[in-house]
Amino acid sequence: MPLSKIAGIGKYVPTNVVTNNDLTKYMDTNDEWIQERTGIKERRYAHRTEETTTTMAVEAAKIAIERAGTTAQDIDFIVFATLSPDYYFPGCGVMVQRAMKMKEIGALDVRNQCSGFLYALSVADQFIKTGMYKNILVIGSEKHSFGLDFTTRGRNISVIFGDGAGAVVLQPTEKEGQGILSTHLHSDGESAEMLAMYNPGTHANHWGAKNYADFDDAEIAQMFMSKKMIDNAQLYPYMDGQAVFKKAVVKFPEVIMEALEKNGLKSSDINMLIPHQANLRISQFVQHKLQLSDDQVYNNIQYYGNTTAASVPIALCEAWENGKIKEGDLVCLAAFGSGFTWASALMNW
Ligand code: UT7
Repeated sequence: MPLSKIAGIGKYVPTNVVTNNDLTKYMDTNDEWIQERTGIKERRYAHRTEETTTTMAVEAAKIAIERAGTTAQDIDFIVFATLSPDYYFPGCGVMVQRAMKMKEIGALDVRNQCSGFLYALSVADQFIKTGMYKNILVIGSEKHSFGLDFTTRGRNISVIFGDGAGAVVLQPTEKEGQGILSTHLHSDGESAEMLAMYNPGTHANHWGAKNYADFDDAEIAQMFMSKKMIDNAQLYPYMDGQAVFKKAVVKFPEVIMEALEKNGLKSSDINMLIPHQANLRISQFVQHKLQLSDDQVYNNIQYYGNTTAASVPIALCEAWENGKIKEGDLVCLAAFGSGFTWASALMNW
């Protein structure tokens, strides 16, 4: 059974840099609070009308495909991870297929938020291992800036997120010892509502009433979307930051150790850990817990914020472009976020 390898990687971040001070125009916040609590100095925001989650993904994909020495017409499957799709449906996978004039290949959308890219990578890895596909495009892309509450009410979430995209092309490897060694996926839906965007949705519990009979016709007609939702900021993401933080610092090290143990390795064997860029404090906690040196962990949240499904491929791409990952290196990817879901992948580069 051939292992799969990342044959090409690319990233795209918008040119518009938004500093912490820029955000003070919209909400009561400050550079000191944001840097101290999250490590973020600035983030990028996509052009409001000319860039979408798909257009950014396509830019990253073009680079990944070229670096893999292949063409868009050779791609035989797409796996696309995002929580900020261009449309509620269809997903962004088919939009990439169309934009890049690919063959009528399969396109799968993954909805696992911060762990989305790792879930997508794991799915692609299985298809390569079974021999079903030979060139899979795996993408994580987000246009958060379009859907955040930029008033003081939403400041605990809005200051964290940024826009961008990362993509890889997965191919079977011919080289002994190279490629993805294992992937590890987990979820715990108990805390699904702690980091979520509830609307628009089909949950129908906006008024707290228990029975369908309790709703009048006007309320039923507006259950999916209503002016009340807009007025009450119910169309924005909600996060219990402290609850997420507490769980993240437990699950990140756990899922990294799971990957290492599965392959008979230890944390000192890691050449580069790419953690999902959720919060610099979380990454530093994980680094400390696993006793990793600064050279063994890559962080760039300072410059891009938290780009959710895009954060791991953007950081991986940047680390590689900066010469921090070389052939033969043991690279570990890990993520934790909404769901809760968490995941890791271990590979020999
Ligand atoms: O990738 C998805 C997964 N997400 C995460 O991993 C996020 C994990 N959680 C976190 O990163 C942190 O919880 C946050 C950075 C989101 C928040 O930091 P915190 O230390 O947990 O702050 P907090 O929410 O407990 O708020 C502390 C104070 C509050 O004021 P009071 O009630 O103490 O007066 C907030 O109103 O900070 C206030 N605050 C702000 N102040 C200035 C919240 N957001 C801001 C802000 N600027 N942007």
